Amino acid sequence: MSTQDPKLAAALAALAELPEAGVVGLGTGSTAKLFIDELAKLVAAGRDLVGVPTSRASREQAEALGIRLLDDDGPWSIDVTVDGADEVDAALHLIKGGGAAHAREKIVNFASRRNVIVVDPSKLSRRLGEKWPIPIEVLPFGHASTARALAAHGSPNLRRRDGVPVRTDAGNLVYDLRTGEIDDPAALEVLLRSVPGVVETGLFVARADVVLVGGATVRRLARG
Ligand code: 5RP
Repeated sequence: MSTQDPKLAAALAALAELPEAGVVGLGTGSTAKLFIDELAKLVAAGRDLVGVPTSRASREQAEALGIRLLDDDGPWSIDVTVDGADEVDAALHLIKGGGAAHAREKIVNFASRRNVIVVDPSKLSRRLGEKWPIPIEVLPFGHASTARALAAHGSPNLRRRDGVPVRTDAGNLVYDLRTGEIDDPAALEVLLRSVPGVVETGLFVARADVVLVGGATVRRLARG
């Protein structure tokens, strides 16, 4: 396959990871959006694929394209989820949450038998934290105290857009925690999750089965 846009190349390659019929988790972000567009073409052509969206945006896109969706309650039995990432390390651990959807994305990821991550090559790094801060969804109540506790592990910044704090689909806030290179993502995940007020972190440790890296040739990296 040859396409100029690496994100589109990765999204197209993800189609080969889908079952003939079944339930597909729909990620969030610009690469996942391209994948949902392609999935809709398969559905329109008669493939029996049903979606579980990871955000309001993905739900609205999929609905508009005629993809049948399961409700938000679950429990779901998802065959495969296709989602993007902000950073992917050599062990295929991820940082996600650039679109503030990481809490829902992680729930859907854990409910999936397989997780396929679609990225362009700029997302690859040797160690997590090299390029991206960790997005951390926190409850609005006492968020400045939560941030003070998070500061033991890095430098937290409240995410704003147009000067206004960003709200997640659940109405929570996001702190981007700049840590620098992370030695042990699994250990850090435990520490961050132990801070009261933290709803979810953007660290996805050992949660990618396959990473598709778009380019003139798509690279398929598999865990294990
Ligand atoms: C949203 C995410 C996205 O998957 C991540 O930010 C990658 O986005 P994009 O494909 O636009 O680069 O985690 O919460």
